[in-house]
Amino acid sequence: MNPVNIGICGLGTVGQGTVDVLRRNCAEIAARAGCSIEISHIGARRGADIDGITVSTDIFAVAEDSHVHILVELIGGTTVAKELVLKAIANGKHVVTANKALIAEHGNEIFAAAAEQGVSVAFEAAVAGGIPIIKAIREGLAGNRIEWLAGIINGTGNFILSEMRDKGRDFDDVLKEAQALGYAEADPTFDVEGIDAAHKLVILASLAFGIPLQFDQAYTEGISKISTDDVEYAEQLGYRIKHLGVARQTDKGVELRVHPTLIPDQRLIANVNGVMNAVLVQGDAVGPTLYYGAGAGAEPTASAVVADIIDVARTLNVEPKHRVPYLAFQPNALNDRPIVDINDIETAYYLRMSAQDKPGVLSNVAQILSNAGISVEAITQKEAADGELQVPLIILTSRSVENQLVSAISEIEALDTIEGEVTRIRVESLG
Ligand code: HSE
Repeated sequence: MNPVNIGICGLGTVGQGTVDVLRRNCAEIAARAGCSIEISHIGARRGADIDGITVSTDIFAVAEDSHVHILVELIGGTTVAKELVLKAIANGKHVVTANKALIAEHGNEIFAAAAEQGVSVAFEAAVAGGIPIIKAIREGLAGNRIEWLAGIINGTGNFILSEMRDKGRDFDDVLKEAQALGYAEADPTFDVEGIDAAHKLVILASLAFGIPLQFDQAYTEGISKISTDDVEYAEQLGYRIKHLGVARQTDKGVELRVHPTLIPDQRLIANVNGVMNAVLVQGDAVGPTLYYGAGAGAEPTASAVVADIIDVARTLNVEPKHRVPYLAFQPNALNDRPIVDINDIETAYYLRMSAQDKPGVLSNVAQILSNAGISVEAITQKEAADGELQVPLIILTSRSVENQLVSAISEIEALDTIEGEVTRIRVESLG
C-alpha cells in the first residue's frame, strides 16, 4: 500500500515525542497500520531542522499541502488551532489532535464540518494522556449503558496533592516542578482550578452518555484551598482527597462536575498518585472498570497520538458511515439531556468547622443538619490547640442535595458557638 503522509503542526513536548515514537517504532507501526506512515511536513513556528522533512514556520502551509493525508494538531489553544483544524478539514484532510480544550469547546462544530467532508477527527490524546480511555468507552464498552464515571484526569493537580500529602511540600513549589517537567498547562490555573479536567470530563461524558459536548455546563472547583489539615483529617477518617471529575446519569439529568473529593482509601483509584491518571467507569453489564496510566508527558501522550494516526490510516479509504462515530453514538442519535445544576446534585459531605469547646454545641449543629433531612454518618472533635478555646469539629454527612446542605451550612455559620466559615468537601464512595 502507498505510504500515508502526515503533517505535524506543533513541535513542543508532545510534537517532539510523536516524531520520536513514529521514527523509533516505524516498523511495528507500519505492520499494524498496513502501510508506512511518513512524516512529510512539519509546521513549527520557531522552525526546526529535521532531516528529510519539509518544515514550515507557517503552520497553515501544512493544511494546504496536497501531499498531507492526516494533519496532526499539537499546537494547543482554541483560536489558531480551531482555524487550522477547520482549514485542514475543508481541504479534505483527516485530523488527529491532542487538544482537549478545542474538542470540549468546539468539538460539536468541528465534527459537523468533518462529517460534511467525510473525514475523521481523532482525539485519544486529549484525555488522560497515554491511557486509551476514549477507545475503551467508545468501543470496548459499547454494549453497556454507562451509569457513571469518575476520574483523576489532571496529572499536575494529582502530583501536587500527592506531594503535599506524602512530603508536606508547599503548593507553589510542587507546581513549579510540574511546570519544569512539562506536565502543567501554559496557564497552570487551568490545572489547579479544574478547567483542564473539566475539558476532559466533558469529552468523556459525551462518549459515555451520548450527549453533545457542553463545556460551559460543567461545574469546576479547584484544589488551591485544600489545607494540609483537611488532608490529614480525611486520612484519619479513612479517606484520601483527590481532584475528581465526576459524570453521572441521574433522574434529573447528567451531573458534570470537577472538585476536590474525599474517596475511601481502600478504593484503587484513591491510591493513584503523582502525575498518574485513572478513570473508573461503571457500566451496567461489565460493572466497574478502571483505567490507569500516565496522563501527561511527551511519549505517553505521543502513544495516544500515534494510535490515532494508525486508526485513521487504516480507514482512510473506508466509507465514512462505516467508521466509528466521533462521539461513540451516531450523530443523529445524540440526546441533549439536561445537565444538573450543582445546587441540585446529590452527594455526601465532609464538613470542618471551628467550634467552642462547651456542652450543647455539637447537638446544635446536629439538629440543624437533621432539620434539613441530613444525617450525620460520623463526627469527630479534635483536641484544642494549647491556649485555644475553639476545637476543630469534623462531620461526615449522609448523601443529600447540595442546596439543602448549603442552607444548613449558613445556619451553622450563624451560630455564636461556631467561628468563621465551614469548610465543605464532597465525598464519593465510588462503590
Ligand atoms: N496539564 C495536563 C495535566 C496535561 O497535568 O494533566 C495533560 O493533559
